[in-house]
Amino acid sequence: MYICLCKGITDADIKQSIDKGSTSLRDLREHLGVASVCGACACAAKDLVKVHTENANNDLGEGLFYRLA
Ligand code: FES
Repeated sequence: MYICLCKGITDADIKQSIDKGSTSLRDLREHLGVASVCGACACAAKDLVKVHTENANNDLGEGLFYRLA
């Protein structure tokens, strides 16, 4: 699904950037150009950073729990 129409950036592109270390809209703007033209995608991109990071942390937490238990 396209998140940024101006730059043709998809949710998969953003998730990949987060997995490679992006932690904020600023990082996504620097690495991909998200929200660098009209800015209409900024809220959706920020939400995606939050949700994808939380999901990654939850996956990591469960993995650690099972490894330590
Ligand atoms: S939709 Fe992303 S900058 Fe316009």
